[in-house]
Amino acid sequence: MHPMVNTAVNAARQAGRLILRAYDDKNRLNIDAKGLNDYVTQVDKAAEFTIIKILSEAYPDHSILAEESGAIHRKNSNYQWIIDPLDGTLNFINNFGHFCISIALKVNNTIEHGVIYDPIRNEMFTATRGSGANVDSKRMRVNKKTELTGSFLATGFPVRESDLLDNYLPTFNHILKQASDIRIAGSAALNLAYVAAGRLDGYFEPNLHSWDIAAGSLMVLEAGGYVGDYNGSEDYLNSGNVIAGNMKIYKSLLQELKATKAKSSE
Ligand code: IPD
Ligand code: CA
Ligand code: CA
Repeated sequence: MHPMVNTAVNAARQAGRLILRAYDDKNRLNIDAKGLNDYVTQVDKAAEFTIIKILSEAYPDHSILAEESGAIHRKNSNYQWIIDPLDGTLNFINNFGHFCISIALKVNNTIEHGVIYDPIRNEMFTATRGSGANVDSKRMRVNKKTELTGSFLATGFPVRESDLLDNYLPTFNHILKQASDIRIAGSAALNLAYVAAGRLDGYFEPNLHSWDIAAGSLMVLEAGGYVGDYNGSEDYLNSGNVIAGNMKIYKSLLQELKATKAKSSE
């Protein structure tokens, strides 16, 4: 394992331990609303603090972009750690055991390493550009399904943007009619890790942040899949609109999302 991945794995495990301790005691949670349907707890912040401390001690010159602390710029650094200390906060708050820690390393403009840790299942997903993606010690490969008919998909509702939600529901309806089912489990990072692991055929969701998708998108690519955004470009880290799967599923989803978008604006 690359030493930088090792450090991120260690940080994710320590944050995971902290999150699990708090999970057993949800009455002690302080929950703040950051915006519409957007919550943060003291546990998100403590997990982030732990991760930043471990990464900064190991790599004091590297910059950081973390969901709760924002950007920490370190002079002349081409390295930036992108951190979501708790992806699936709403699940965590409700004792719905599906959430994770997501850590990625961007070098210049390219994500080079990704780590996603699910503390409930004790599963560690890792990826390094050019070296593949693993869940624990097992190599991950995306599924080979060639069409949306009968596919097993995941998405997330854009519940923080009511305008987007109105546009999204017809799209969802249209895709659901072809799929065998669509899961909305509440963690963008785990959705991407599950596509990489071949547990889902595809995933699409608009309006995300780079910390939700940086690590997971590299995992899908390294597992032989493809990630793009809703206009067919690869600008998903900036746009926040993501489609993932093998190339055939990606293209089919892209076509549906484009077609439905055109329909809903008629
Ligand atoms: C959220 C989760 C969720 C997605 C939201 C994200 P958070 O992240 O990934 O699945 O639908 O858009 O913001 O707020 O729990 O870190
Ligand atoms: Ca998130
Ligand atoms: Ca989060």
